[in-house]
Amino acid sequence: MAGAGLRRALAALAALLAAPGLLALEYPPTADNYTVCQGDNATLSCAIDAEVTRVAWLNGSHILYAGGDKWSLDPRVRLLAHSAAEFAVAIAGVGPHDEGLYTCSFQTPARPHTAHVFLIVHVPARITNISAPVTVDEGSDVTLLCLAAGRPPPAVTWRQPRVPRPRPPASLTAGSR
Ligand SMILES: *[C@@H]1O[C@H](CO)[C@@H](O)[C@H](O)[C@H]1NC(C)=O
Ligand SMILES: *[C@@H]1O[C@H](CO)[C@@H](O)[C@H](O)[C@H]1NC(C)=O
Ligand SMILES: *[C@@H]1O[C@H](CO)[C@@H](O)[C@H](O)[C@H]1NC(C)=O
Ligand SMILES: *[C@@H]1O[C@H](CO)[C@@H](O)[C@H](O)[C@H]1NC(C)=O
Repeated sequence: MAGAGLRRALAALAALLAAPGLLALEYPPTADNYTVCQGDNATLSCAIDAEVTRVAWLNGSHILYAGGDKWSLDPRVRLLAHSAAEFAVAIAGVGPHDEGLYTCSFQTPARPHTAHVFLIVHVPARITNISAPVTVDEGSDVTLLCLAAGRPPPAVTWRQPRVPRPRPPASLTAGSR
């Protein structure tokens, strides 16, 4: 765990970076999208160099890792790399609630920097309810139900598979078995 001094310094840094309209005007947050599927492991990697004195990954305004110190209580979050060139954390088994803006915040002697990534979590579409087979008389109405869930919400379409035409009975030619 971080010492109280470092904790305070990073909290102050995070507050400064989160202050709307302050640094935001100078450094507009241009976030890359990072799309993963529910259940996947997401890797948040930040390229740094030897100039960097402090580095942290934040989920929204909450620090996940500050250097080698874990601040997140989430057991799915772990440190992947902490070297002079890279600072990376992993989130195991992502879910829809993990979707959002993640920020790599780092300090050089000159000034603080931020890099943003927007984590998008997709959930594969699945059918949650569908009509049972139904037999109706010709000319009468029928209502078919199909409910699907997923993220982004799936589009449901109905189509009628091509019914194969019955083939004419095969005829035997002389000499074949
Ligand atoms: C990220 O995804 C959103 C919504 O899907 C899209 O509007 C936006 O342009 C994307 N941003 C980038 C940088 O690709
Ligand atoms: C995802 O992370 C977990 C826990 O850290 C690990 O056991 C698992 O092997 C990882 N899965 C993949 C596909 O990398
Ligand atoms: C990120 O923050 C959101 C909103 O507070 C939370 O639901 C989610 O569990 C967090 N994910 C990680 C990996 O910290
Ligand atoms: C599916 O939808 C039908 C019609 O609305 C409903 O009667 C049935 O209980 C639903 N089944 C499930 C598993 O939700």
